[in-house]
Amino acid sequence: MSVPLDAAPTVVDTAVRMAANLGLDEQINARLAKGEPILHLGFGESRLPLYPGLTERLTAGTQYTEYGPVAGRMAPREAVAGYFSRRGLPTTGEDIVLAPGSKPLLLAILAAIPGDVILPRPAWVTYEPQARLLGREVIGVPIPAHVGGVPDPALLTAAVTAARAAGANPRILIITSPDNPTGTTADPATIGRLTQIAEVEDLIIVSDEIYRDVVFDAGVEYLSPAALAPERTIVVTGLSKSLSLGGWRIGAARFPSDRFGRTLRDRAAATASQIWSNAPGPMQAVAEYAFGEPAELVEHRNASTALHGAVARAVHTAFLAAGATARRPTGAFYVYPDFAPLARPLRRIGVTDSASLETFLLDEFGIAVLGGHHCGDDPRALRARAATSLLYGSTDEERWQALRAQDPASLPHIAAALARIAAIGPRVGELAAERRPTAPMSVVG
Ligand SMILES: Cc1ncc(COP(=O)(O)O)c(C=O)c1O
Repeated sequence: MSVPLDAAPTVVDTAVRMAANLGLDEQINARLAKGEPILHLGFGESRLPLYPGLTERLTAGTQYTEYGPVAGRMAPREAVAGYFSRRGLPTTGEDIVLAPGSKPLLLAILAAIPGDVILPRPAWVTYEPQARLLGREVIGVPIPAHVGGVPDPALLTAAVTAARAAGANPRILIITSPDNPTGTTADPATIGRLTQIAEVEDLIIVSDEIYRDVVFDAGVEYLSPAALAPERTIVVTGLSKSLSLGGWRIGAARFPSDRFGRTLRDRAAATASQIWSNAPGPMQAVAEYAFGEPAELVEHRNASTALHGAVARAVHTAFLAAGATARRPTGAFYVYPDFAPLARPLRRIGVTDSASLETFLLDEFGIAVLGGHHCGDDPRALRARAATSLLYGSTDEERWQALRAQDPASLPHIAAALARIAAIGPRVGELAAERRPTAPMSVVG
């Protein structure tokens, strides 16, 4: 069949959309650049000053101009192996694959394992689009009341059974701890129950541990599913969050060391070879240094984690003061408020779901959050993700100040942000009261 030369090009819908969090960030940054006083809680970037030792390693690493091995050079892979071994997961460099960020690694891992994907509901925005990109079904299982990042173990078996009955082939279970979007860390008992179900149902666990070094609650006992079910767990990590290096792009995956694990590793590396070839040489030098965890870097990381904790806790308190409920954050830099207690006044002013909640908070208060529907949550719920990590300051000076402060939440720029959040509840009450006698329901956004 011949195609006329003047035919308009056809745009094929690939079903992949701009990641909601990145899209929102670009949109908010453009408005901030115009001077709009937006409180940006919409993007999970750990924006803290760069630790100088990292710059030195990056500079020294510029000598690595060759592609090098797809999985990465052995010295940085061994540094990552040491990192895991110190956390009770015996690992060799052979078990590790490096990549430009953990995001592409997650895609390569999904591509390596045939089958459909079980996700906690809500979950980080990218898991579902990646699964769909590979033509996989997604089975969303609600999170338990006390913690996010994991499907409720009490619902998981029934969800697997129902998915199989409907013709799906659930094989991959993704869990995230600490979690984005809820800022909570799964307890050992929950991890234990999930690994047991994974064994019975023959699920492969992908454990996203990118926030593992951002646990700020002293009461948290961290347990990786790889400690309980090493032969069926792949762990993914990176430096974007704990060391605020998102734009530098480096991630690592740890595969089981048995034959099955080697097969998965080689398949993931095959995908890597077809897409990114190798993690950038200079970043591998940074990884070798950072995953080696020298004392001075660990001190900086611990200070960063303490700041994330102080601000996340304060934001949590502010959302409670605003009338929402939210799980108490224990790690990462997120709070996941639920405005269900304000459902009646919100409905009166046209806020009936997470999309209209997102629009309302931005239009009425200049507060940017990510509606829960972007994370796969029930769109009718009045939930949203608030990322707390952009509150530390808008200049490096402010961020260093926040990092060194005894009580970061009391710094004027952070305290002002907290007051804005706490003001949501009273203002909703006022708006609803204004509408009560006459105005018809209108839908915002
Ligand atoms: C849960 C989770 N996993 C993975 C990533 C991706 O991190 P990177 O690709 O920068 O390593 C993010 C970043 O937002 C995240 O929140």
